[in-house]
Order: sequence, then structure tokens, then C-alpha cells
Amino acid sequence: LDRGATAVAHPNIALIKYWGKRDERLVIPYVDSLSMTLNIFPTVTTVRLVPEGQADTVMLDGTSASGEQRQRVIAFLDLVREMAGRTEPAAVDTRNSVPTAAGLASSASGFAALAVAGAAAYGLALDPTALSRLARRGSASAARSIFGAFAICYAGRGVGAAADLSSYAEPVPVAKFDPALVIAMVNAGPKPVSSRAAMRRTVGTSPLYRSWALSSKADLSDMQAALQRGDLEAVGEIAERNALGMHATMLAARPAVRYLSPATVAVLDSVLQLRRDGFAAYATMDAGPNVKVLCHQADAARVADTVHGAAAGCSVVTARRGPGARLLIG
Ligand code: DP6
Repeated sequence: LDRGATAVAHPNIALIKYWGKRDERLVIPYVDSLSMTLNIFPTVTTVRLVPEGQADTVMLDGTSASGEQRQRVIAFLDLVREMAGRTEPAAVDTRNSVPTAAGLASSASGFAALAVAGAAAYGLALDPTALSRLARRGSASAARSIFGAFAICYAGRGVGAAADLSSYAEPVPVAKFDPALVIAMVNAGPKPVSSRAAMRRTVGTSPLYRSWALSSKADLSDMQAALQRGDLEAVGEIAERNALGMHATMLAARPAVRYLSPATVAVLDSVLQLRRDGFAAYATMDAGPNVKVLCHQADAARVADTVHGAAAGCSVVTARRGPGARLLIG
């Protein structure tokens, strides 16, 4: 009974974005995505089984989670229990080293760590593909954080069980590409709209959504080729256009979903200036105002300095490719 497991996972930043679900219950994306898992901001999660009759408890950074956050974790535990044929409740304790809901992908590291720890605690032996499918049910971006460095997540084919089986992440072997990702945190506050709700609205109302999804296919194959060449300029250009396109589809939703703030635009301007000054620096943004700037390791200090000066109150941290999720105890 006193079974417990602890796992660690890192966030990932998509270079080719996932935005929109074709099946909300199974969390099946409309588009394939490709990301880099980071070496910073780990999430450490412990899942401990408790005696029957008790309620599940969910601790998030030392305080009891409530509302939708708690509901998502409990629904995820229910899924793990169903797969394991078990019924014991659990005590979940999650520690993030990055503010949650700030658009810094804490749901990716969170559900990747929860998948690994939850599967171990309930005695489920899952291979990495099955773990990534499980993590996807919590948050589709989490499927990619099961793997380190570069990972692709397939939108899968078909519907129902066929879609569930074919939508998973896997590593993209990239030998000699090790860029820096400078993260400009312009505002660590919670997002105005959850990405879940924003995605639904974008898919349902944005006249640009279909064409972005279509162009994303071409971006993905261009990206795979650029990664294999280790061509930072091409990787950056494709990532930047893919992200700006995603934000354009959101801006065209009714009502508009706008995550980008004046500070975001100021940082984007500084990235353009860096390029005019001869640096390879390219921006990508997720469901929040923060900007992640891809550049050469050798230029990271200069890039960090420049973006830091671009927006008042902006804090900067530099990441690079990091490890996949793993079990620490259990
Ligand atoms: C903009 O994975 O957080 O960061 O599946 O609803 O939990 P849910 O969404 P989530 O969305 C991530 C969106 C994104 C792009 C990306 O990471 O691919």
C-alpha cells in the first residue's frame, strides 16, 4: 500500500506549434508539433498511494490545488487507475521551479512528471511511447517532455482508439545542434485565457485556422531538414514564422485571443535589431507574453543583454537542450 514514486520532467518549447484539438476528450491535436526540451525549470512530482476511502489530494508548490487544476490531475489519476485496474486514491505533490500558467509550459513538465510517477506508483510498466501517449491525455505538449532534446509529436490518424494509439511523441535524433534559448519573461502573471479555452475558440471561430494548420505541415518538413543540417538560421526562421502564424490565427478568433503584450512587441523589435546587427536570433511565443529567443551559444550573453534592455521589468534566463522525463524514486 505505501507505494510511492517520484519523477522529474522539464518543460519544452515548440519550434513547430501544437494549437487546436480534433478530440478534446482524448486530447488529440490537429497538427504535428516539434519541440526542444529544456535543461531548466524542472517539475518534480511524487505520487503516493493512500488507503481506500480517503480522497485524492493534490499539492501544487506547497499549497492545495483547487478548481480546474485539481480536476485535471484527478481526471488523470482516474485514467492511470483505469489502465492499471486499481482503485486506491493518491496523494500528489508537485513542485515547479517556474510560475504556473505563465505560458512557460509548466503543464508540459507537470503532466510528463505526473505520467512517469503515476504509472510507477500504480505499477504500470509503460514504454516511452505509451508514457508519451499517457502524458498527452493530461496536456498534449507533455507528450514531448517525456523525451529530451528534440521531439516530434504526431497528431495521429483516425478517430477514437485509433487516434489515441497513433498520437504520441518520439525523439528526433539531432546530433550536432545545441543552440541557446534565451527566455525573456516579460510578465510572470497568470494568462488571461487558458490555452485550452483559447484553442477551442480559435478552432471554432478563426477563419485563419485551417490555413495555418496547412502551412504548419510544410513548416514541419522544412524544420526537420534544417535540424538535420544543424542550420540555426533556417531553424529560427521557420520557428518564428510558425509561431507568428499561430498568433495570427488567435488574433483572428472571435473574440480575439491576444497573448502578446506591448513588452512582447518591444522584445520582438530588439530581436529584429539583433538580426540587422548580424546576429542569428529568432523569436517564438506560446500562450503568454514571454519571448523565447533561439541563438548560438556563443551569442547568448549578448542576446540576453539586448532583450533584457528591451522591456522594463523583463527578466532573462538562458536554456539549452535538456533531458527527458525520468523516475527518481520508485
Ligand atoms: C502554445 O499543451 O498546454 O504552448 O493540450 O490543452 O493542455 P493542452 O494544451 P497545451 O498547449 C500548448 C500550446 C503551445 C504550443 C506548443 O507547446 O506546442
